[in-house]
Amino acid sequence: MKKVLSFILAAVMLVSLAALAGCGNNSKTATGNDAASSAEQTENVLTMATNASFPPYEFYDEGTEIVGIDAEIAKAIAEDIGMKLEIVDIEFDSIVTGVQTGKYDMGMAGMTKTEEREQSVSFSSSYAKATQVVIVPEDSSIKTSDDLFADGATYKAGVQLATTGDIYATEDLGADRVTQFQTGADAVAALKAGKVDCVIIDNEPAKSYVKANGGLKILDTEYVTEEYAICFAKDNTELLEKVNASLEKLIADGTVQKIVDKYITAD
Ligand code: ARG
Repeated sequence: MKKVLSFILAAVMLVSLAALAGCGNNSKTATGNDAASSAEQTENVLTMATNASFPPYEFYDEGTEIVGIDAEIAKAIAEDIGMKLEIVDIEFDSIVTGVQTGKYDMGMAGMTKTEEREQSVSFSSSYAKATQVVIVPEDSSIKTSDDLFADGATYKAGVQLATTGDIYATEDLGADRVTQFQTGADAVAALKAGKVDCVIIDNEPAKSYVKANGGLKILDTEYVTEEYAICFAKDNTELLEKVNASLEKLIADGTVQKIVDKYITAD
């Protein structure tokens, strides 16, 4: 009898803890996570914080579902380690803190592994390479990135707040020549409206934005090369190791490449 009671108590506590954890996440889920009906189910949810304005890594399909390379790799990992994925769409600059404080289990957002972020979170193995590129209007007088960085140049760049594009541009151009936007899409809209002269952003999202908007092009000269990885709270080595083992397996067996090929077609 006592055992049953303490089991029920423990279950009630777990469920209410989970309810608390869910508070304040204005979450949109990709997988449609029904209210937890048992403690076990709650424990098995893997929350991934992302910023879903970054095609082809994470974006909304025509409806309310978040799709993309990161979303699908995360789903494959979750399936592999027996967890249920829940994707939460938040501002990019809140992901590292949210993961660091344990609000989310992991952050996956086309996020570049950087030494600075490694002060706050741990990173998985890398699952993609990327480069920062420069988007300009087709008729721009910026012909190469050297024009942009030349002494005396006054060109202004748009970036997504707190991204590596933001960090490099601010370093190289000075803060007064950089405008930070909440999403890459907002930065591109400002470029189209003539409010900035270029946008500095990751290469694949750049291609998606250029494709979706007429009159823009990407400069041939690449800016900075980087690697994407998933971030975890520093004390959550157990999950990091589990995810890493799974990710490495999914890279080795071709699953990751298959997902990438679905979203990135050679052109
Ligand atoms: N790779 C860049 C960074 O880590 C940009 C990532 C932006 N990701 C996003 N989902 N909006 O800073």
